[in-house]
Amino acid sequence: MNSLILEAKNIYKSFKKATHVVNVLVNMSLQINKGDFTAVVGPSGSGKSTLLHILGGLDKPDSGEVLFEGKNIFSSNGFIDKFRNENVGFIFQFHYLLNDFNALENVMFPALIKDGNKNRAKMSAEYLLEKVGLKDRMNHYPSELSGGEQQRVAIARALINEPHILLADEPTGNLDRANSDSIFEIFQKLNEDGLTILVVTHDSYLAGMTKNKFNLSKD
Ligand SMILES: Nc1ncnc2c1ncn2[C@@H]1O[C@H](COP(=O)(O)OP(=O)(O)OP(=O)(O)O)[C@@H](O)[C@H]1O
Ligand SMILES: [Mg+2]
Repeated sequence: MNSLILEAKNIYKSFKKATHVVNVLVNMSLQINKGDFTAVVGPSGSGKSTLLHILGGLDKPDSGEVLFEGKNIFSSNGFIDKFRNENVGFIFQFHYLLNDFNALENVMFPALIKDGNKNRAKMSAEYLLEKVGLKDRMNHYPSELSGGEQQRVAIARALINEPHILLADEPTGNLDRANSDSIFEIFQKLNEDGLTILVVTHDSYLAGMTKNKFNLSKD
């Protein structure tokens, strides 16, 4: 049975630049069910990143609603903070790891911010880094890791607070075929374990491996 986890309803989003207005999302609706693995595809500039930011509560629509388990995520500041910290994991095209901290510390951060329990954060971070194949790289700094390894650290970091949904924007954008495939294998395993995933990708081969596709066309 399908059960709705995240829903965008009649979203409008435009950006103003001087006198020019770009209507990026026009009456856009999208439903994501628990356990979905969805690729968001569409040409450059069609609003994929804008959509992901709105779904993850990082940006507000001009009008329309985003419902998480039936509740409007923008209904209060308290709810939006909780939603962002506890329900969503974000992976960006550029991983934004902190360069002065090693892989383990980077992964631990969101957990420390959430509840300050250092032992638990360390244990979860070690478990996740092992899961993404970086058991022997935990003490490496981002500059000492390959692009694919850095992106896997970012995946572990996105998972540490056990999100209900993973939003990923071009997670393989800078990677070669082999690394892209290994990131997608990780996504597939996570999805098989029950994680709901929405991923923006230009890679039609990878988009073909997801269960559903959502096409954002340019007007
Ligand atoms: N902060 C902003 N101010 C003004 N315009 C913006 C802003 N953010 C995005 N845009 C415009 O909105 C449109 C959609 O941008 P968005 O980044 O969502 O596209 P995208 O589908 O992710 O593209 P790409 O595949 O190149 O990453 C673009 O035309 C972009 O120029
Ligand atoms: Mg984008």
